[in-house]
Amino acid sequence: RIRKVKGYQILDSRGNRTVRVRVETYGGISDFGDAPAGASKGTREAVELRDKDGGVTEAVRIIDSVINDSLHGFSVLDQLAIDQALIKLDGTSNKSRIGGNTTIATSIAVLKTASKSLGLEYFKYIGGPRVRYVPIPLLNILNGGLHAGNMLKIQEFIVIPKEFDTFSEALIASTSIYKRLKELITERYGKLYTALGDEGGVAPPLEKTRDALDLIYTAVKQTGYDGQVYLGMDAAASDFFKDDVYEIDGRRYSPDEMIDYYVSLANEYPILYLEDPFNENDFERFSILQSKLKKTIVTGDDLYTTNVEYLKKGIEKKSTSGTIVKPNQIGTLSETFDYIELAKKNSIKVIVSHRSGETEDSFIADLAVGVQSDFIKTGAPARGERTSKYNRIIEIERDYGLEYYGKKL
Ligand code: PGA
Ligand code: ZN
Repeated sequence: RIRKVKGYQILDSRGNRTVRVRVETYGGISDFGDAPAGASKGTREAVELRDKDGGVTEAVRIIDSVINDSLHGFSVLDQLAIDQALIKLDGTSNKSRIGGNTTIATSIAVLKTASKSLGLEYFKYIGGPRVRYVPIPLLNILNGGLHAGNMLKIQEFIVIPKEFDTFSEALIASTSIYKRLKELITERYGKLYTALGDEGGVAPPLEKTRDALDLIYTAVKQTGYDGQVYLGMDAAASDFFKDDVYEIDGRRYSPDEMIDYYVSLANEYPILYLEDPFNENDFERFSILQSKLKKTIVTGDDLYTTNVEYLKKGIEKKSTSGTIVKPNQIGTLSETFDYIELAKKNSIKVIVSHRSGETEDSFIADLAVGVQSDFIKTGAPARGERTSKYNRIIEIERDYGLEYYGKKL
């Protein structure tokens, strides 16, 4: 049973302040949960509670007082009741009173403490005996949009090491591509431009989408992985959509012209994955694009914000074949599990994802394995807050002899 819930104001990977929660039981078991933070957030996400100066001292105060008082005595094994208590305590539809950052950090801390109290790995506690695979990584190795200082409008250029026998081999292949990419940038633009964006990808001084795709596809080919490694993009298109126009590659595109834009790119490059190609309200064009791109997993992130209400709409309209899952977009793990169940029931591919502002906690790796997601998206194979997740899956793969999902997809 819960003896104490305590908050901390800690730092995230951008040096911003964020929430950590520690839960302690009367049996002396204790573990923590962290709230990550997005930069290109969907407008329908759970709201973070922040002080005027960007700190989270008010959130910590709420955790130490109200949350601590309300959760006292609960069994840590009763995740649903605890999450429901948090939802009730907040009382709003978007967690704006006590903050989605306080609720998600608490919810994660509870789950981790519960696993520990049973002596189980987090992923085993989440998934039980159905766990057989580890997911395919989506590695964002070239950054643009709000995550970088360059002029690229597309936010993320991704490599997908699918055709490998193990997660470890897939990851190591990706590091060769990542290193080759840095060499190519040094050759073409100078070493100055190999500096990294928020998610650990390079951020060279490019403006056009095709230049970035050329660069990463060249790196894939030169390392000998063409045919084994596919490409992906997160356009995060709400961020370059204004007054019904998408401004990209030095041109203005109407929403309908953007459909053709993506279809051409998918004809020129092996694009397996395409996230948020349109603004977050355009369920119809997502659907048109998905029907045209049979081999590409069109995916909603800002479109759905891990909220069943919007996923239902996407299912009805056949908007996408994939969905991002970010627990802090909705605010509790129980709601996250419900969301994943709805996606799976409707054969929507599940992509468990980090945020651009992360901590060193590797929990989402266990979450991805536990719910048997198809993919995990957690940045470049570099920088501790990204590698902690990949390294955790390497550990799980070896310790439990799980299969790699790459060739099964
Ligand atoms: P964010 O970006 O964490 O800054 O919102 C990640 C994404 O859009 O997938
Ligand atoms: Zn996204």
